[in-house]
Amino acid sequence: MDTPHELPLDQVILGDAVRIMEMLPAGSIHCVFADPPYNLQLRGELRRPDDSVVDGVDEDWDRFTDFAAYDDFTRAWLAECRRVLRKDGTLWVIGSYHNIFRIGAILQELGFWILNDVIWRKSNPMPNFRGRRFTNAHETLIWAAREKNSRYRFNYQAMKSLNDDLQMRSDWTIPLCTGAERLRNAHGLKLHPTQKPEALLHRILLSSTAPGDVVLDPFLGTGTSAAVARRLSRHYIGIERHPAYVEAALGRVRRVRPGTASEVAVTPSRGETPRVPFGGLVESGSIAPGTVLRDRLRRVQAVVVADGSIRAGSLQGSIHKVGAEVQNAPSCNGWTFWHFERDGAWIALDVLRTEVLTNEGNGHERSNPPGNTAAERSGTRTGRRQPLPVPDGHDAG
Ligand SMILES: C[S@@+](CC[C@H](N)C(=O)[O-])C[C@H]1O[C@@H](n2cnc3c(N)ncnc32)[C@H](O)[C@@H]1O
Repeated sequence: MDTPHELPLDQVILGDAVRIMEMLPAGSIHCVFADPPYNLQLRGELRRPDDSVVDGVDEDWDRFTDFAAYDDFTRAWLAECRRVLRKDGTLWVIGSYHNIFRIGAILQELGFWILNDVIWRKSNPMPNFRGRRFTNAHETLIWAAREKNSRYRFNYQAMKSLNDDLQMRSDWTIPLCTGAERLRNAHGLKLHPTQKPEALLHRILLSSTAPGDVVLDPFLGTGTSAAVARRLSRHYIGIERHPAYVEAALGRVRRVRPGTASEVAVTPSRGETPRVPFGGLVESGSIAPGTVLRDRLRRVQAVVVADGSIRAGSLQGSIHKVGAEVQNAPSCNGWTFWHFERDGAWIALDVLRTEVLTNEGNGHERSNPPGNTAAERSGTRTGRRQPLPVPDGHDAG
């Protein structure tokens, strides 16, 4: 990992978000998660029908003189986030209707490129006590790349796997942070008015970061992002202005056991799985031109050509294309359809591909590439080895 040494990795820093970020090196952070002040503009106490006081957000850190002051503050911290983000890094910001639209407009002005807005639907929202508006049951997350066309990370397969093999949608139903997860003070009261649920951060970090990445949270609060980052074996840098919250975050993070490499290795997405084109196998001598290929039931056959295509009668093309045409099918996974003969057995090309990938990984050489001469099979030919080209064509496998 190319992390600059000056980064205060895995630290909770007491201080002002902008001032501290100014000390971080440019282009060093993989992902920013920001849960900034909401600028709720609460006026007076809000009471429940039983006259108890609602425990809302009415703290110094959430007070701004007017929208202009809030916008200046927003522009300052977002600009710093953009400076410290890597080119391929992404930013997550969470907010409510009070601030998210202002933040969205400012981050676009600064050059961020919005990838999604995600609705966090609270399954157990606080009711609307006065009954004069809809129950405010969601918050909005903006997910943005540092710039348009950046090669940001999205762990698509991991998200699908988290969602019972269905594509993850942009509306997430997750309960508020309650129960044992909610930090409380000595009097049993909420330690922080807006502690976010770990489940929300789990999904955010799992979707857009990799183990070892650096996650920066400029408004750390009770340390939710840091705790989840540590559990998922990501590095964290948290900034928080309030000493009591810093202390709470430090204690919380210390209690987290970092996940092991195998616990946090997510399902790889397409493009991350090592891939090899069929032509690469021909080129490296793993399968020789002239080798006869057959389908599993040996009804059709084709012959391997030197350019990585195969020929069946007058048809010539990729293993996928010819496989589809000989079956009169709209598509075909040539890797599993075509088989070659080795030591009397018919083996799927997919098996050969896996062997080659495994041997590549181990630095081994296959000793008996299919379709070579008897001498070659006995090991007298050492196949030409060179890095397999990265495919850009079709891979149905
Ligand atoms: C919405 S809360 C974040 C809550 C956090 N996500 C959690 O789960 O606990 C915002 C936090 O930002 C802190 N804060 C406000 N302004 C700040 C600033 N300029 N620099 C650093 N922290 C600040 C507040 O003290 C507050 O704890």
